[in-house]
Amino acid sequence: MASFRHLAERALLGPVARVVPAQLQPFFQRALAAAVRHLPVLDPTSPASVAVKNQAELSFWRDWLGRHGTAPATEYYRSFMMAMGGIADQDFFTGRVCVDLGCGPSGSLTWLHNAKAAIGVDPLAESYRQFGIDAHPMLYLACGAERLPFPTGYVDVVFSMNSLDHTDDVPAVCREIRRVLKPGGHFIGSLNLNEPPTATEPWMLTEELLAEHLFAGWRRQFYKVRPKLEHEPDPYRYFHEEPPPDLPSDGPQALWCRYQAVP
Ligand SMILES: C[S@@+](CC[C@H](N)C(=O)[O-])C[C@H]1O[C@@H](n2cnc3c(N)ncnc32)[C@H](O)[C@@H]1O
Repeated sequence: MASFRHLAERALLGPVARVVPAQLQPFFQRALAAAVRHLPVLDPTSPASVAVKNQAELSFWRDWLGRHGTAPATEYYRSFMMAMGGIADQDFFTGRVCVDLGCGPSGSLTWLHNAKAAIGVDPLAESYRQFGIDAHPMLYLACGAERLPFPTGYVDVVFSMNSLDHTDDVPAVCREIRRVLKPGGHFIGSLNLNEPPTATEPWMLTEELLAEHLFAGWRRQFYKVRPKLEHEPDPYRYFHEEPPPDLPSDGPQALWCRYQAVP
């Protein structure tokens, strides 16, 4: 598996890609990105892994937005991001600096009109301009969450929705979240647990890893772990209804949580 992945990475970036005729390049890149998407990753921080990941992310969004349209999914994100933090009232965010790490191109913070600032961070933000993000009522920063361009203690709310396991270096991202959050600020997450690494999700998150690198010393305000349903229209169904008691407790799960950085 690993050696096939290496070959696929080299092909994607190297000689094979160069001899494919220009008009076939989009199909070639898409097919190869799809092929490597589910293979194990050797070193998520290597430039080859990051390049493959970026190709696969872009081809995912091109396909998704091609089918669903590029209008911002404002109501979807409002209800998901409030629910994943156990927040009932949008006033929670009034006047606050809110940052969404790994925001994607679908206008994840376009609902946050009452915030002081609504800023999406994504290393692919430059490429996402092809999907019309310039028209969204939020700001985008083109950078990885491993090095955030904010002063220390500047941000009131950090969101991460299905993105932490997509980053290049989870411990580095956790350090940055802890650095930029104000004392008393909040982290709100929907985090996928126990999923073996793939090209686009090169890290496997566990409750233990998060407790050590992200939540240490913080105040837990909301914490819900549920099985994640890979082959259902709503993988997060059991956040809205009780799971059956006989469901196995291992396998892919998701964590919805809100923590407060202790002042
Ligand atoms: C599955 S998408 C999630 C998008 C959005 N949060 C949502 O749930 O619809 C994961 C996003 O993480 C971004 N990502 C990948 N590496 C990252 C990094 N190092 N720092 C921040 N975001 C990253 C990808 O570019 C992609 O847009």
